[in-house]
Amino acid sequence: FNIPTPVNEPVLSYAPGSRERSLLKEAITAAYSSRIDIPMYIGGKEIRTDKKVEIRPPHNLQHVVATYSQGDKSHVQLAIDAALSAKESWEALAWEQRAAIFLKAADLIAGPYRYKINAATMIGQSKNAYQAEIDSACELIDFLRFNVKYMAEIYAQQPPVSPSGSWNRLEQRPLEGFVFALTPFNFTAISGNLPASAALMGNVVVWKPSNAQIYAARVIMEVFMEAGLPAGVINLVYVSGPDAGEVIFNHPDFSGIHFTGSTSVFQDIWRTIGNNIHKYKSYPRIVGETGGKDYILVHQSADLKVANTAIIRGAFEYQGQKCSAASRVYIAKSIWPELKEMMQTELSTFKIGPVEDFSNFINAVIDEKSFEKLTKAIDAAKADSNVEVIAGGNYDKSKGYFIEPTVVVTKDPNYVTMCEELFGPFLTIYIYDDNEFDTILSTIDKTSIYALTGAVIANDRYIIEKATYALRNSAGNFYINDKCTGAVVGQQPFGGARGSGTNDKAGSMINLLRWVSPRTIKETL
Ligand code: ALA
Repeated sequence: FNIPTPVNEPVLSYAPGSRERSLLKEAITAAYSSRIDIPMYIGGKEIRTDKKVEIRPPHNLQHVVATYSQGDKSHVQLAIDAALSAKESWEALAWEQRAAIFLKAADLIAGPYRYKINAATMIGQSKNAYQAEIDSACELIDFLRFNVKYMAEIYAQQPPVSPSGSWNRLEQRPLEGFVFALTPFNFTAISGNLPASAALMGNVVVWKPSNAQIYAARVIMEVFMEAGLPAGVINLVYVSGPDAGEVIFNHPDFSGIHFTGSTSVFQDIWRTIGNNIHKYKSYPRIVGETGGKDYILVHQSADLKVANTAIIRGAFEYQGQKCSAASRVYIAKSIWPELKEMMQTELSTFKIGPVEDFSNFINAVIDEKSFEKLTKAIDAAKADSNVEVIAGGNYDKSKGYFIEPTVVVTKDPNYVTMCEELFGPFLTIYIYDDNEFDTILSTIDKTSIYALTGAVIANDRYIIEKATYALRNSAGNFYINDKCTGAVVGQQPFGGARGSGTNDKAGSMINLLRWVSPRTIKETL
């Protein structure tokens, strides 16, 4: 049971002239030159339908890189049947054997699949090379390796007392039935971890990725199969939400959902599960990471360079589409003029364009729906006399869904974009009087309907302590003098409460405990 703690997968730099850069470029070229037809994977078989859907990179809309087969309710049923058939032999395997498969998957991604999976994430989800590397390579590898460490620790937890003549033990059984993994577009690592963590603990899984992430999800599935995952343990289907929901949430063997996505979808799912609760053999595990309206609070004592980097990186890496991305910032009035100039100077250097040109820091937003929502908010801000646009504000979808990193300043701390989630490169700033710090702490807490990530930038120790305590319920991941993104598996377990989810901390023992159902055994010797 004593498994060595893994080290975090080193991040490759992709610097000009580096070997990794040329290998990644080769993988991108190979991806563009083969228009693949992506199947569903059910019971270890490739399943195709006549209903083909085209995949176009969000930054390169004229190009079709792949098609996938749209499934329907019958495919969801097939996937459940395949999962339940695989269940008995999968859960009977020694845990070390399950672990070996996922450790092998991690090694495959660290080695031969690294450039293929990064290229797929770049092309399918419009992520630049560095953002793809920290996601689909490093974070996914870390999830797979650290989960094994946490699993071993869970199995090692035993009742401390067995009086003479008896032996008390705790057996961590997988859930009875199947788990549904419903995964997001914005992180390939999260998409892979949600089915993998449940499967590692001995469960069988039906996995429905976001349509916008199918291009990379199928690489994860290829890796799992090459690593030796038995047929039917994870079944990957491309079906509509209603088709999936109707079959899965009415099934007596539904035993849990591992979800990352919007708050409204999660709430609908929770309601549906509640309405169907009498149909299930056991109360299902409901685990979800949902919306966010993540904040950075900058105190007058802040180091301005630290504040500038935290704001710009926190708000605009991956076009502000990380669940952890900063989208509202509160800044003390006395430091604002200098900080504003620093931010405008840095933002003016950012290049926007397709991922294939590695010098572009900003790529496209994920799809038309997101583009329309964001540009509507930009237009509303431009038309509002109480709001000033201090950077960006332009957009263009002629070639891809490109939006400039946009920063607006509002005079109203309850302005719509200070409270509602937009999920894109749109940052709203409120300037507070230096002597109103206590009021601003309470404003942040009151407007935190979501509570995923937050940060305070300050050098005054008293202020740091005060903010950390006052904001204790408004973020599940809180950062001091850092950006509010970039949680690393094994270092900062990730997740939030309130409207941001069940806070079951991805990449931790807390999460894995949701995928087992313990049995206590007392044996009289
Ligand atoms: N690890 C990702 C972040 O914290 C989710 O940004």
